[in-house]
Order: sequence, then C-alpha cells, then structure tokens
Amino acid sequence: MKIAIIGAGNVGGALGKRWAAAGHEILFGVRDPAREKYQSLVTQTGGKGQLMTSAAAVKGASVVLLATPWNTTQAALAECGDLAGKILIDATNPLGADLALTIGHTDSGAEQVSRWSNGANVVKAFNSTGFNVMDDPVMEQRHAVMFVAGDDQAAKGVVLDLATAIGFEAIDAGNLKMARVLEPMAQLWIYCAYRQGLTRDYAFALIRRGA
Ligand SMILES: NC(=O)c1ccc[n+]([C@@H]2O[C@H](COP(=O)([O-])OP(=O)(O)OC[C@H]3O[C@@H](n4cnc5c(N)ncnc54)[C@H](OP(=O)(O)O)[C@@H]3O)[C@@H](O)[C@H]2O)c1
Repeated sequence: MKIAIIGAGNVGGALGKRWAAAGHEILFGVRDPAREKYQSLVTQTGGKGQLMTSAAAVKGASVVLLATPWNTTQAALAECGDLAGKILIDATNPLGADLALTIGHTDSGAEQVSRWSNGANVVKAFNSTGFNVMDDPVMEQRHAVMFVAGDDQAAKGVVLDLATAIGFEAIDAGNLKMARVLEPMAQLWIYCAYRQGLTRDYAFALIRRGA
C-alpha cells in the first residue's frame, strides 16, 4: 500500500519507519523536499520512503497520515489538494498552551479535520500514545492498545490492520465522534508521562476476562 505522511516529525517518522518495515511504500509530504533534515527519513525507511510535496504525496497514495502540530493542521490540509475518497488517519491532538485540549465534549479535532478535508474518510488513530511507543508497541511481552474511531467501516478496517501490523492491539472504538474521548486520552497519557512521573516509556493496554 502507498501511504502519504503529512507531518514528517516524531509521529510521522516513527510510523513511516514501522510501516516501511511492514512492506508499505511511504510518501513523505514535506514543505521543502530538498531540506537536509528529511534525508535521514529516507534512510530509515530502507529505500521504501520518498520525499515530495504534500500534494504529490496525497495524489499517489490511498491512505494519508496526518501528523502535524494542531496550529498548522488546517494549512497543511489545504496544501494536500483533493482528499476526497482518501483514508485520512488523524493522529493530531488539538493542543494549545500548556498541552491542554482546545476542543472537546461537543466536538473534536478529528471532526474539525473532517470538515477541513472535504470528502476524506477520516479515522482517528495513533493520537493516544507517544511516538516512542509507536516505534515499539510491545512492552514486557504485552501489546499496547490502539483505539481507532471512524464512520467508514472499510476505512477503519484498513487503519486497524495498519495498527496491528506494527504491534498494537487494535480496537474498534466506534464512530468518529468517539474522537471526543480519544483526544482526552492523549492528554491523560501526556499528563502521566510528564507530570506524574511515568515517563514516556509506558502505554495503555487492555485486559479481558476470559480472553
Ligand atoms: N509527539 C508525540 O508523542 C505524539 C503522539 C501522538 C500524537 N501526537 C500529535 O501528532 C502531531 C505531530 O506531533 P509530532 O510530535 O510528530 O510533531 P513534530 O515532531 O513537531 O512534527 C511535526 C511535523 O509537521 C510538519 N509540518 C508542519 N506544518 C506542515 C505543513 N503545512 N505541511 C507539511 N508538514 C508540516 C513539520 O515540518 P517542518 O519540519 O517543515 O516544520 C514537522 O516535521 C501533533 O498534533 C501531536 O499532538 C504527538
């Protein structure tokens, strides 16, 4: 599968590397493909990654990962061109000052992304844990959980498979409105990591009776 990554930073880099290792082709959409800082991304994807503009990356891919800082997300989407029919994985969190959520309860960043991306099948995922966990979601033989929310069942199925492929226990969390719950989960993860002493090396996992 060809996956466009818009936001080639911590999250985009980690997922690009893992998906390349799982056999996918990665098209990193960046503002200036000639910039030196992006060259290591191509090396890390073992020849399966390419650098190009966001519009070219989106055009060539069926799945698009959105991993931009919230304050640049609307502009980044505008630079993507036509997103209609694409599976758009929203890994962003609408964070403002002090890493606090700026949207919630009656709306979510993912629903805003959906309104900004005309006709894309938006799926919320990869927002509720750290990029270092995405780089290696298995700890002490247990798989970190990744909740996935979206309105289009087929699109969500693709994203659940992409999470499973890199080692998460992927769980269908329902429709896109459930992003209103998944975005606060990110805030909980951040708070416990930085304020409560858990550090970035922890993840949420699921336990089930009788499983
Ligand atoms: N960090 C985490 O552990 C984590 C975990 C889950 C979710 N998230 C969320 O994921 C998002 C990204 O976080 P991050 O830590 O990966 O951020 P980051 O390391 O700062 O990377 C963000 C990337 O977005 C790029 N970018 C900004 N505007 C762009 C545009 N208009 N077009 C294309 N690329 C653009 C930046 O490129 P330039 O180099 O050109 O500025 C940068 O490479 C945030 O919304 C965050 O809340 C983060």
